[in-house]
Amino acid sequence: MDIRTVGVVGAGQMGNGIAHVFALAGFEVTLHDISEDALSRALATIEKNLERQVSRGKITGADKAAAVARLHTTKTLTDLGQSDLIIEAATERETVKTAIFEDLQPHLKPETILTSNTSSISITRLASRTDRPEKFMGFHFMNPVPVMQLVELIRGIATDEETFKTLHAVVERLGKTAASAEDFPAFIVNRILMPMINEAVYTLYEGVGSVKSIDESMKLGANHPMGPLELADFIGLDTCLAIMNVLHDGLADTKYRPCPLLTKYVEAGWLGRKTQRGFYDYR
Ligand code: CAA
Repeated sequence: MDIRTVGVVGAGQMGNGIAHVFALAGFEVTLHDISEDALSRALATIEKNLERQVSRGKITGADKAAAVARLHTTKTLTDLGQSDLIIEAATERETVKTAIFEDLQPHLKPETILTSNTSSISITRLASRTDRPEKFMGFHFMNPVPVMQLVELIRGIATDEETFKTLHAVVERLGKTAASAEDFPAFIVNRILMPMINEAVYTLYEGVGSVKSIDESMKLGANHPMGPLELADFIGLDTCLAIMNVLHDGLADTKYRPCPLLTKYVEAGWLGRKTQRGFYDYR
């Protein structure tokens, strides 16, 4: 199937990055959010990040202008009805995601592919709640989307081969690399990354190291671009905790037990960069 038009649901950190890379790669993109504020913030972020790419010589001013011209925004979900591909990047809550697909479905073409950018919710379960489980896939981008090369493609139990092939080709058009993952808790990247972050929080909790020494150790000792605690702040501590809970519940192994200190920070509302406070203070 030839994908030309893309509907992105949710204009947050992931949604705006996804809209950015699709518009730049030549797709017509409609970005939806229930909040006008979120939409204008997303557009401002996309323009700023495109400008950064221009100033670093990655793209031209004309590329940027063309990408911006291909970007449309709406507060009306049904405006995405004519899209060939839907990418849901809304809040990481199953009820929210399911409700979005249910609301959209009656307005979609039969051939439209549905995807979710979920970082850990079961694709098979989300797909089973739609009218087209064979045309449903996990489509997991990494943050920051314009920079990170990988996209995880996760098949639900009913996903057909044509849908997989279509999305694989789309990832290539974006100039990114697809990794195919089976539908088990947290897929590949977060299955490995989150226990490492959780272990870094335990290392802090048990007094083995300070925030600074833990992050410096992993940056200088393991060549990670960001230390694990800095990365946790960047991803959002609530997201890290939610993913650890999915691993703990889904795999029933105590090795995935979220660190009590991570839980405490989330309870305090210290969610990382987005609340100006996490393991670091951004105020
Ligand atoms: N949009 C466009 N370009 C951006 C950008 C953005 N939002 N943020 C950074 N860049 C570009 C910069 O322009 C720069 O480009 P060049 O190399 O071409 O000049 C490059 O990225 C590096 O940026 P900076 O020099 O400003 O900063 P940096 O060197 O400190 O890198 C970083 C920043 C790319 C974020 C780097 O620290 C990094 O890779 N961190 C780890 C990120 C990571 O692990 N992400 C995965 C999180 S897990 C996830 O997303 C899955 C999940 O479900 C939770």
